[in-house]
Amino acid sequence: SPSLPVYTQEEVAKHCSLAEGVWVTYKGGVYDITEFVALHPGGEKILLAAGGALEPFWALYAVHNQGHVLEILSEYKVGELSPEEREQADSATDPYADDPPRHPALRVNSQKPFNAEPPSEILTDTYITPSAFFFKRNHLPVPRVDPGTYRLEIQGLPKGPVSLSLADLKSNFPKHTVTATLQCAGNRRLEMNQVKQVKGLNWGIAAISNATWAGARLRDVLLEAGYKPGSKFQHVQFEGLDHDVTGTTYGASIPIRKAMSEEGDVLLAYEMNGEELPRDHGYPVRVVVPGTVGARNVKWLAKIVVSEEESSSHWQQNDYKGFSPGTDWDTVDYKSAPAIQELPVQSAITQPAQGSTVSCSKGELTVKGYAWSGGGREVIRVDVSLDGGKTWNVATLGGAEEGQEAATSPPPGRAWAWKLWELTVPLPAETQELEIVCKAVDNSYNVQPDTMAPVWNLRGVLSNAWHRVKVTVRK
Ligand code: HEM
Ligand code: MTE
Repeated sequence: SPSLPVYTQEEVAKHCSLAEGVWVTYKGGVYDITEFVALHPGGEKILLAAGGALEPFWALYAVHNQGHVLEILSEYKVGELSPEEREQADSATDPYADDPPRHPALRVNSQKPFNAEPPSEILTDTYITPSAFFFKRNHLPVPRVDPGTYRLEIQGLPKGPVSLSLADLKSNFPKHTVTATLQCAGNRRLEMNQVKQVKGLNWGIAAISNATWAGARLRDVLLEAGYKPGSKFQHVQFEGLDHDVTGTTYGASIPIRKAMSEEGDVLLAYEMNGEELPRDHGYPVRVVVPGTVGARNVKWLAKIVVSEEESSSHWQQNDYKGFSPGTDWDTVDYKSAPAIQELPVQSAITQPAQGSTVSCSKGELTVKGYAWSGGGREVIRVDVSLDGGKTWNVATLGGAEEGQEAATSPPPGRAWAWKLWELTVPLPAETQELEIVCKAVDNSYNVQPDTMAPVWNLRGVLSNAWHRVKVTVRK
């Protein structure tokens, strides 16, 4: 609006406290938000932006990328920055400026922080997902870590704190290799969103990927650091090096039982697919907790705390939990639900693609996809229907090696990697529209729910109903 006064950055900067008034800038506009400070859902943190630009903070807290937030802001507009100053403000330090380059084929859900999944059509073309295409889920800017000065601190054990270098980790402990699938709790949230709006990134079916990880066993490291079986500890907490503007780091924890289990295969991984970890995936060290939700696989690992308590982080306490479809943002009590650890059984169709047109010149159709279950439970069967779930066929489960029909069974309770599956069926001549459906069964005979509505939850996690793909058949 041209009638509003033009201010300089210097004038804005003077309004940097509740006493002087709290002014901020956003995309060239000047806002007096003094009155809003006490109303801010994110609390006092808002004062960090006083006298300056909102952009770097909002780049960190993606929760602000919503229409209603901009509406609130617009009520407080008091002026404009001059065009020259506006340009300077635009180039103001971006906490994400040092993020690594990424492959342009990735489907980006958010740039800052970077969240992206591979195109679902290629997801199951390889058993091991190439690292460049492995889904990326970051809450914060990717930290730059110097491997020479990197230290891993281990705290909470009676012997006192231990500090390890990257070289210590590589040379003092046997290198252990595990092929494990990681899945984000929000995989397939898009489909839940179609039932009713949820809060979160709109992941398709590819917030899941499979890699070979190598590193030291967490168990070996904790035993060396003085952990004694039978002690009072209940949890192992992890802290990342990635942090927000207030210095708050990403954190999560897992039960000690999983961490110390000889068959748990929890790694402090320094390799992914035979190479150093890429920066996006936690260089130089990340935790890999096979069978456990992605969120506990802490990247850029800085600290391990053995404790009687779970991690106090936001992501352990107030996120990544499941609720009833009847629970809304007014009634949700995060304390009432356990943190997600093992994930439920999951499967999805990668080929043909949703909404595509398939040619049936050969009179048959090949359907492909993935299946996986949490907690090391092995997928024993995938059922596929071409008529929306009325009749079913059993798919062939693919193995670890390309072209191998059935995988050598993993050791009991340690099925950490997904199974790729495939089914070729004749197409009835009269067919025009197909609703292809898949559902997996794990070795506890857990099954997927047939529809999303009964498992809908306000955060859109644990989205694992039958996957349905509609295609048009062309003669
Ligand atoms: C959450 C508005 C500045 C940190 C929110 C929400 C709104 C909001 C409406 C709730 C969004 C939702 O859940 O749908 C604003 C406005 C701002 C502002 C209008 C500027 C005038 C900031 C700044 C910071 C910040 C500068 C950090 C330094 C947060 C955090 C949350 C949040 C951490 C999440 C709280 C939670 O879910 O626990 N903000 N905000 N905000 N805000 Fe802001
Ligand atoms: N670790 C740190 N330090 N910071 C993060 O933002 N994201 C978590 C987890 N570990 C995260 C993290 C989440 S929610 C998931 S799903 C996985 O990392 C994703 O791992 P990836 O990016 O290697 O696929």
